[in-house]
Formats: sequence, structure tokens, C-alpha cells
Amino acid sequence: MVDQNIVWQRHNINRTNRAEQKRQKPCILWFTGLSASGKSTTANAVEKKLFKLGHHTYLLDGDNVRHGLNKDLGFGDADRVENIRRIGEMSKLFADAGLIVLSAFISPFRSDRKMVRELVSEGEFVEIHMATPLSVCEERDPKGLYKKARQGNIKNFTGIDSAYEPPESPEITLNTAECDVEACAEQVIKYLREKHIIHD
Ligand code: ADX
Repeated sequence: MVDQNIVWQRHNINRTNRAEQKRQKPCILWFTGLSASGKSTTANAVEKKLFKLGHHTYLLDGDNVRHGLNKDLGFGDADRVENIRRIGEMSKLFADAGLIVLSAFISPFRSDRKMVRELVSEGEFVEIHMATPLSVCEERDPKGLYKKARQGNIKNFTGIDSAYEPPESPEITLNTAECDVEACAEQVIKYLREKHIIHD
């Protein structure tokens, strides 16, 4: 609950001013998908391309944020909801600062992703589904976590004993089993150009 004595402060420099200074339209590129589906790798490749094009970006990543801001949260349903709520609010602040934000989190629940979508204006939330199949993610298992989960040594592991709800109408669908990271990143850049979020 917001305290009734807290009033929203207005400032002279707004998000439009900040975005215009950077010659870009702020947005949130929200990468969702299973662990090892390629979210961070693809987000990293997209950020590199945007940076080269002179854009001002910021990449938020599940594993990193869970070492700091969200280190008090685990992987039960309630903690995952809170994880995404905080990331959503943080992504919104970075977008307000005029940045193109790349957020790479499993974000397994549809309702949480919808909540973040509703925090920003129409068109500013770009949902990118990393649709790499579970079998491929499990085969890759870069951190050995799927193996541990199968052995029963990690509880609530997404795709094993915790649900992943795939997006119903994501703006972009990528599959790193069928398309290399470079080509996936290029698809995102193409989308951003088509939607006039970035210009040549
Ligand atoms: S989310 O579900 O709350 O969105 P988030 O993206 O922050 O997850 O963190 C996922 C990362 O935490 C995974 O890439 C993996 O390295 C690690 N991890 C540790 N335990 C789990 C678990 N039970 N389920 C999924 N990922 C886990």
C-alpha cells in the first residue's frame, strides 16, 4: 500500500526530453524463456549491436540481479512474482531515463509479464520469447542445474518441477536451436527499425 502522505513529485526534465537527447525511443526488450534458452547471450549480442549504433542501453540479467537487489529472493512462486515486480519497476525507471532496457529473466508467469507490460506505454514493452525447446536447454545445461534438478537436488526448477507459461502473442519469437545468436540478434534489430524505435 502506498502511504497517503506520499505525493508524486513532478520534475521539469521528463522522459521525452531525456529520450530526445539520446535520439532514441525508450523501450523494454523483455527476454523470457527457460534457463539456458539463450536469453542472456542474445540480449548481450543485441546490446552490443545497439551500442555500436550509438544507442544508450542497459542490460538487466537474472543471475546478476539475484546477487544484489534481489538476493533475498528464492525460486518459490511468491518470490518469483516479487523478483519480476522489482525488475519491472527497475526496467521502467531505466526506460524513464531514456534508455533501451534489455531484461533477461525466466519470468515464467504470464500474469507477471503482463504486469510489466502495463507499467509502460503501448509499444514500449517488446516481449521476446526464447522458444528454445526444453530438451535442447537440458542438453546444453551450462551450469549443471538441470542435472541437479533431475536428481532432486534443486527444488522448483523451471521446466522440471516448476511451470513455464509461454507467451501467447510475443512481439518476437526466437529459437537458438534453429538460429545462431548473431541471426537472432539481427531479428531484434530489424524489429526495432521497423517499429521506428531506432533509426539508421
Ligand atoms: S525467475 O524465474 O525469477 O525469472 P531468474 O531469471 O531471476 O528467474 O533467475 C534464473 C536463474 O537462476 C537461472 O538462469 C539459473 O541459473 C538460476 N536458478 C537457480 N535456481 C533455479 C530454479 N529453481 N529455477 C530456475 N532457475 C534457477
